[in-house]
Amino acid sequence: MTAKAVAEANTNIALVKYWGKNDDHFNLPAVPSLSLTLAGLRTRTEVSFEADLASDRLLLNEHEVTGEPLAKVSRHLDRVMRDLGVAARASALVRSHNNFPTAAGLASSASAFAALSVAAAGALRPGFVLDDAARRRLAVLARQGSGSAARSLYGGVVVLGTGTPGQVDSARASQVLRETDWPELRLVIGVASESAKDTGSTDGMKHTAATSPYFAPFVAAAPADLRQAMTAVQSRDLEALGHVAERSALRMHASALAADPAVVYLRGATIEGLHALRALRRRGIAAFFTCDAGPHPKALTHARDADAVAAALAAVPGVLRTIIAAPGPGARLIEDSGP
Ligand code: DP6
Repeated sequence: MTAKAVAEANTNIALVKYWGKNDDHFNLPAVPSLSLTLAGLRTRTEVSFEADLASDRLLLNEHEVTGEPLAKVSRHLDRVMRDLGVAARASALVRSHNNFPTAAGLASSASAFAALSVAAAGALRPGFVLDDAARRRLAVLARQGSGSAARSLYGGVVVLGTGTPGQVDSARASQVLRETDWPELRLVIGVASESAKDTGSTDGMKHTAATSPYFAPFVAAAPADLRQAMTAVQSRDLEALGHVAERSALRMHASALAADPAVVYLRGATIEGLHALRALRRRGIAAFFTCDAGPHPKALTHARDADAVAAALAAVPGVLRTIIAAPGPGARLIEDSGP
């Protein structure tokens, strides 16, 4: 007997950064975050429960993955199963594809755990419908796989709260703007070469929280960042939103840089990217820096300036190419088929 479903989820980039947890077990963020879901950068995942499979398997872009990443997927399938009140499951074949190059270091646990959550629910529950209530529930589950994944359940601009330690369903994601509400928004990614493997975000944020004297001030500043970002989003004020986004990203990296030993994601291309964006601003082009747990400089801008911003980032030594992304949709079920 086979039960399978396919889901897609787009990645998202935080404009107010999630960095640090207030509950490791339930994966509750220490700070609220605000993100933009991106069109065109998506993970498509098929979950197929197969009675004749001895154990779970994970194929990522057709390559067999084992070890801890597979174990994380298995735990997540169990988590979705328990939440749906399903008593048992067959072993699963999970096939996941990113339509953006994994080698470029843009591989995103956000789109991965969002798509996995939806596909698992679709496969476990015949006739599963991704309505508002199901989406809310799956966002809580996806967050336990990876905090940022909760935000990819929704399109457009999304907020993720901090929650209450010890309460698994407390940190909720919700949509602030639909992807069609501010269609001129663009996120430009400068894909930078990576000469060394980065510290993953989970390890990087835990180490920052444990050792950085700047972590507590970062956490203390976050609620004001979120408030200002929400006001800017409501009034479609790119300047104000960009200002907060740049500040939040730099404060996140400042806290990581002050860890002991330092967590350093910034490379030459990242810093030169930041300067290139500030130079554009002096010429009257609204372009604001952000950066995650990797070297790629990213810019928040307006559609009419996106090509100029991409050209400026492309001219930065170490930037290999650029991607321009508009606001994108939330996670969705593509098909499901029962036994
Ligand atoms: C820098 O969601 O990858 O991208 O919950 O441990 O899986 P885990 O962390 P993850 O962290 C994302 C960190 C970030 C900022 C952000 O997306 O808010």
